[in-house]
Amino acid sequence: MAPTQKKSLLKHHGKIERNATLLLVGSLLVVSVGGIVEIAPLFYLENTIEKVEGMRPYSPLELAGRNIYIREGCYLCHSQMIRPFRDEVERYGHYSLAAESMYDHPFQWGSKRTGPDLARVGGRYSDEWHVQHLTDPRSVVPESIMPTYAFLSRDLDMADPAGHLVANRGVGVPYTDAMIESARADLKAQADPDADTAGLLERYPKAVVSNFDGNAQHLSEMDALVAYLQMLGTLVDFSVYEPEQNDR
Ligand code: HEC
Repeated sequence: MAPTQKKSLLKHHGKIERNATLLLVGSLLVVSVGGIVEIAPLFYLENTIEKVEGMRPYSPLELAGRNIYIREGCYLCHSQMIRPFRDEVERYGHYSLAAESMYDHPFQWGSKRTGPDLARVGGRYSDEWHVQHLTDPRSVVPESIMPTYAFLSRDLDMADPAGHLVANRGVGVPYTDAMIESARADLKAQADPDADTAGLLERYPKAVVSNFDGNAQHLSEMDALVAYLQMLGTLVDFSVYEPEQNDR
């Protein structure tokens, strides 16, 4: 570039630097171009989440448990997001996939680990262990600082299970009409090993059916929360999972 040309270009820039309004308008223009480049594709891309075999919406009982998890603020001490680092993968299992929280509204990734990550806690302990641990954490882990949740043995108060499914469908969770119709029956059947659970398991493959809280007589908040915990991280079969190749 010739020296005179360079000088005149700088002179123009000088104008912007001396005029606050012009500088503001200029910066806005530059920032919006950057913003549009980042945001616009999201409007025509149908999905940014890689599809993964095995993911399904929560069963009504798991969803009820998830609501309790959120209500009690478990996310304040527990994350549900295993990062792709060696120490995390060795401790907790396969790193979390985006698809694993695609039906979470809101997601439970969390930002603090006072206790361990729970993204793959499903199946790691027995139902009895969970009930004992939630009722009195120090009876199983003496050094635990986790609060006691013994009161969760009270009745599960879910007046309208189908309503919760409908609300989730409203934000994009693919609950079918059949799932919504049988929401109340499915809610009860999952905590009753004597119930006919063929329909439940067809609608929600891999759902754990158990008398979670050990009291067959009544459906408690404990039943729901333990059903939710026992499902966490168990839906995707990582012995056959292969990440999508990025060769497009
Ligand atoms: C004040 C922080 C705190 C809160 C709130 C909290 N926890 Fe914990 N949690 C811990 C700590 C610390 C541990 C590790 C010691 C232990 O096992 O008790 C733990 C352990 C656990 C474990 C065992 C995890 C493992 O892999 O060993 C589970 C399951 C669990 N918590 C579930 C919950 C649930 C469900 C809630 C909400 C009802 C909850 N926690 C609320 C602190 C908390």
